Amino acid sequence: MGLVGRARKLLRSDGPKGLAFGLVRTVSQVIRRVYFEVDYCISDFDLRDWEWDSSRPPVEGLEVHVVESEADADQLALCGYEDFREVTPLAGRRLACGAVAFCAHVDRVLVHMAWVALDVDGKRTFDALPYAVDFANGEGCSGGSWTFPRYRRRGIYRHVFGWRLAYLQSQGCTLCRNATRTDNLPSRRGQGVFPHRVIGRAHLRMLFGRTRWTEYPSDRGDA
Ligand SMILES: CC(C)(COP(=O)(O)OP(=O)(O)OC[C@H]1O[C@@H](n2cnc3c(N)ncnc32)[C@H](O)[C@@H]1OP(=O)(O)O)[C@@H](O)C(=O)NCCC(=O)NCCS
Repeated sequence: MGLVGRARKLLRSDGPKGLAFGLVRTVSQVIRRVYFEVDYCISDFDLRDWEWDSSRPPVEGLEVHVVESEADADQLALCGYEDFREVTPLAGRRLACGAVAFCAHVDRVLVHMAWVALDVDGKRTFDALPYAVDFANGEGCSGGSWTFPRYRRRGIYRHVFGWRLAYLQSQGCTLCRNATRTDNLPSRRGQGVFPHRVIGRAHLRMLFGRTRWTEYPSDRGDA
């Protein structure tokens, strides 16, 4: 659908206010294609002596499923759970490359999605940031989280993050590394309750399609 078609659809469905928001979104997306700068913090979650109790979901009826393959995803859909592959078009490719999905449903409706990787091919599918993860030596990584707006601020991200760490631990990982935008308060607060160390900061700058990633190691461990 072209821009004009999308604008008409927005005007019909959300009225002039929706159209105005849509326009602002489109313009900022265009600007972001030309130029943007973002800061990240890189964190390590130590899984060696970590223990966690997944038995108390923050929302009644919340179910978390670990999906390691298309066959798992087919099975979940067959059981009547909303198919996350329809919401995340790249999901099939991610699974094929070894990334593992975490899907949270309430009454079989998808409310949250998140990913982990145990190798570089899997990581690349949901996280293009070039921070190093030593997959060969027991490190895994996490990323690609999304809570549907209606279900935000109910502790679902934090709960599923616990599931992700527990999964990586069950696969033999001693550490989970990730990069989170420093201004992403919900993510940082959600992860912050798990034992971790901020090992560095990074700055991503994109100008006319050329990106520059600069890392600044941290020796404080808490920044
Ligand atoms: C980031 C995101 C996944 C968090 O999901 P969520 O399920 O709402 O998170 P939780 O309910 O587990 O909240 C975690 C913490 O963040 C806080 N929080 C959530 N939304 C917040 C907001 N908008 N402002 C400030 N704090 C917020 C919660 O209160 C909670 O902290 P607390 O228990 O110490 O008070 C969700 O906001 C989202 O999908 N954002 C868009 C995509 C994104 O940014 N993904 C993360 C990429 S790393």
